[in-house]
Amino acid sequence: MNNDQLHELLYQALETELGGVQVYERALGCVKNDDLREEWESYRDQTKHHVELVEGVLGAFGLDPAIDTPGRRVVRHIGTSLVKAMEMALAEDSPEAAELVTAECVTLAETKDHLNWELLGEAVKHLKGDGAKALRSAFSEVEEQEDEHLYHTTGWGRELWIQSLGLAAVLPPPEEQKDVKTAIGAARAKSARSKMM
Ligand SMILES: [Fe+2]
Repeated sequence: MNNDQLHELLYQALETELGGVQVYERALGCVKNDDLREEWESYRDQTKHHVELVEGVLGAFGLDPAIDTPGRRVVRHIGTSLVKAMEMALAEDSPEAAELVTAECVTLAETKDHLNWELLGEAVKHLKGDGAKALRSAFSEVEEQEDEHLYHTTGWGRELWIQSLGLAAVLPPPEEQKDVKTAIGAARAKSARSKMM
């Protein structure tokens, strides 16, 4: 295991969760659909808790959560850019268009978040000690939530876009109705959408 790279991943994971809270705070000011607002409120609260969990994991590895790295700065830049993109849409376009942009921004943020945890889940299989124990416990708490954040939001973005095209949309999206928590489940839900209209 390349420990330096594992530590870098942990720092990026923290920055992603911190940025995620900002993205959700901004997203909640752009969302129109009440079901989606409720969904994102709970994802925001879960993401706030993920920040605490990753800070705890960093501590267990003997790492200072305040240390910045070039990789962390890139993650922060992307998070800030996503917030700005939503603000641009809100200021310059219709509320419907801003909602679509917002669903895409949340999906982009959650794609990185999901990747981080997938990688941490791989890494922890090869680790021992206090850090490993803390990471394993955080991973078991977070894993399903991250699946839901990504797959359900992706479904919302797709169905809201379909609705905007004047086509029959499935809302809430099949991913949410079927409570999808895996990539295979998301693919199945998406292919079953025509039967759900
Ligand atoms: Fe998260």
